[in-house]
Amino acid sequence: MPNKLNIVLMGPPGAGKGTQSELIVKKYGIPHISTGDMFREAIAEKTPTGLKAQSFMEKGLLVPDEVVISLVKERLSKDDCKNGYLLDGFPRTIAQAESLTALTKEIGRPVQSVILITADADSLIERIVSRRVCPSCGNSYNLLSKKPHKDGICDNCGHELIQRKDDTREAFSTRLDAYKTSTEPLINYYSKQGLLGEVDGLEEIEVVFKNISNLIEENN
Ligand code: AP5
Ligand code: MG
Repeated sequence: MPNKLNIVLMGPPGAGKGTQSELIVKKYGIPHISTGDMFREAIAEKTPTGLKAQSFMEKGLLVPDEVVISLVKERLSKDDCKNGYLLDGFPRTIAQAESLTALTKEIGRPVQSVILITADADSLIERIVSRRVCPSCGNSYNLLSKKPHKDGICDNCGHELIQRKDDTREAFSTRLDAYKTSTEPLINYYSKQGLLGEVDGLEEIEVVFKNISNLIEENN
């Protein structure tokens, strides 16, 4: 088992970060820290963080750095991150990456591997509009590639599936613009530090996972 499991997973909207995160955390036993999921929970619970994030998220805009950074700071200092962590969708700006570098230094858990999942815009939009999620247990489906057994119903808990509010063509286009403008510069940022590895997100889910596992294990 690799002993360097402080991982950042990056990629455009719909690249497969959530799908791969599920497999990674199961294999390596590290906590999955998805800022998008944390915000969706906060919105459902109507917490102050949720209220701050909601309007940005629904439009597909990035939530302001200070809101995201304080959320991650609190989460990373928990005990379950002692042996590693998987950050999904954070950092997304240079300011977030710099805060992460400082924060992880402070707690003695520096980032050891940054994995970029790539995919082209046409494939991404197709995936995004056909994604369905369970608002109760969080399971994710796709009408093209991962259908539920019964139409519109979660296989895991039987709840009715919904479409994320930001999974429209319009919000996707805003999300992709935000990725290109604010997040893509991180590729160079992490590449210069020798931390970046890349996988093709258009392969089958299991193949992508195999390639990610190879990167995690070869970086040790
Ligand atoms: P977030 O929830 O992180 O959304 P995202 O980055 O836009 O990415 P998605 O969750 O849509 O896609 P994914 O890469 O996880 O793909 P998935 O595995 O689901 O963020 C949402 C919002 O929160 C942001 O827009 C922003 O407002 C805010 N936010 C979050 N973090 C922030 C931050 N750090 N700073 C500021 N704001 C922040 O797959 C997609 C679909 O494709 C699924 O249906 C899946 O089944 C299918 N699929 C996956 N892999 C494959 C494959 N290999 N082959 C075929 N189908 C596949
Ligand atoms: Mg996701």
